[in-house]
Amino acid sequence: MQFSRLLKIAALTLCAATISFSAQAQLKNSPMHANLPENAQTKDCLMCHQSYDAVAQKTAKLNPNPHSSHRGEQNCTNCHSVKGKPRLECNDCHTFDIKMKGE
Ligand code: HEC
Ligand code: HEC
Ligand code: HEC
Repeated sequence: MQFSRLLKIAALTLCAATISFSAQAQLKNSPMHANLPENAQTKDCLMCHQSYDAVAQKTAKLNPNPHSSHRGEQNCTNCHSVKGKPRLECNDCHTFDIKMKGE
């Protein structure tokens, strides 16, 4: 289990390295995100952002709230990108009129 997770992380890191030249920097642009690994997982984000509930409160005015839905607690980087364009994963199925910064 632990080993396969490490392999996955290694694979993701390799992928990230090959696309990093063309990808547009996003979260990486801000100082507080400068040290994030490119394959950051939700737990890396929640060290500072506390919890899904906490970020959901910040976007309470969005309809629907991207941080509180029937999809539960998805990986933050399904939508936000450390180094690359963000994309609203909800719109794989919906057509919500919500634009992400840098999208
Ligand atoms: C070292 C602490 C830290 C970590 C780790 C961190 N953030 Fe942040 N982030 C902040 C701070 C501080 C702010 C500014 C205050 C706020 O909006 O909460 C911020 C702001 C943001 C914003 C709004 C501003 C912007 O740049 O668009 C987003 C989106 C965000 N973080 C997403 C993430 C995601 C996703 C991760 C994990 C991949 C993450 N953060 C990891 C500290 C952190
Ligand atoms: C894999 C496809 C899929 C994804 C991804 C998805 N949804 Fe849905 N969603 C559905 C289906 C299916 C329904 C139920 C059928 C309906 O009401 O259209 C639904 C219903 C909803 C509804 C209630 C009905 C409506 O359209 O107002 C909301 C709100 C919603 N989703 C929000 C979200 C949000 C927010 C996200 C992203 C965090 C998301 N969905 C991602 C498939 C998806
Ligand atoms: C389904 C897509 C999606 C997921 C998954 C997601 N976010 Fe967001 N997030 C958004 C959208 C949409 C916004 C509002 C537009 C923007 O800021 O680009 C947003 C905004 C934010 C903001 C700025 C809030 C403010 O002050 O305006 C922070 C911080 C943030 N997200 C952190 C996170 C963290 C941390 C996670 C994982 C725990 C996460 N997000 C998961 C879609 C998502």
